[in-house]
Amino acid sequence: MPPAPPVLGLDLGATLTKIAFRAGELHTERWPSRDLEAIRARIAALAPQRIVMTGGGAAVLGASALGAAVEGVSEFEAWSRGAAALAAEEGLALPARHLLVSAGTGTSVLVVDGGSAVRAGGTGLGGGTLVGLGRLLVGAASFAELAALAARGKRGSVDLLVGDVYSQGAPIPPHLTASNFAKLASTEPADLAHALVGLVGENIALVCAGIARLAGADTVVLGGSTLAENPALVEVLTQTLGLTGLSARFLRRGAYCGAVGALVAGERLAGSA
Ligand SMILES: Nc1ncnc2c1ncn2[C@@H]1O[C@H](COP(=O)(O)OP(=O)(O)OP(=O)(O)O)[C@@H](O)[C@H]1O
Ligand SMILES: [Mg+2]
Repeated sequence: MPPAPPVLGLDLGATLTKIAFRAGELHTERWPSRDLEAIRARIAALAPQRIVMTGGGAAVLGASALGAAVEGVSEFEAWSRGAAALAAEEGLALPARHLLVSAGTGTSVLVVDGGSAVRAGGTGLGGGTLVGLGRLLVGAASFAELAALAARGKRGSVDLLVGDVYSQGAPIPPHLTASNFAKLASTEPADLAHALVGLVGENIALVCAGIARLAGADTVVLGGSTLAENPALVEVLTQTLGLTGLSARFLRRGAYCGAVGALVAGERLAGSA
């Protein structure tokens, strides 16, 4: 049996619970947040000495029953620490001042400046919207099904584009969206799924653009499970952020920013104890 990790980082999100620990290298796992018994069993099997928790569901797990010292860390502090650690591990150099986006069930936008992180805004449009509206619109039974449909869809036949409104002399580029879902020339499931990803992605990017202008940032770092294996959303975000003059950086293991940040915070505590 592998040795018990000294510290376990836990991020209990609205949809998914993420776990991070070191056993030689960094290990990450995710579990549906509703499977509390499975999560407790996994933690018991790992038997860490110290657990650091973050995320909205941290109180639900029942800290006292976990058989280890348990601390909490704020979600935004965890995210900024975790993103910095993952960026370093992935060889990604970031400007000291940048936006950090948690593309989770909902979306939060943080302004990171050196060591400090402040939540500057967000939107209820997020991964939960993709799953919920995906079920209603195209009967997608899962996130994976919706993401796969979107990857082969063409939203230009669902969204009304500026070029559809202006046959010539458009005041803004003709390929931009004039109105999401307003054309509906196609109701093919793949096209609708792609349009749904477009609606969510464009609006996340536009929220970022406003905050970036106020904060004087030109780089947006994105994480969260909504981006994992979801190439259509990554493309919409990259394009839309690019149109607003921002450069997008995606962390390969960005779904685990919160859990890795909790782990790093715990390792600091262990180091100073
Ligand atoms: N296996 C999966 N099961 C469910 N959702 C998934 C899965 N993989 C990716 N997703 C997407 O990821 C989203 C959740 O992302 P993430 O884990 O970052 O959020 P969270 O931490 O649970 O939520 P929040 O931070 O808003 O509390 C889901 O809404 C869904 O769109
Ligand atoms: Mg989260």
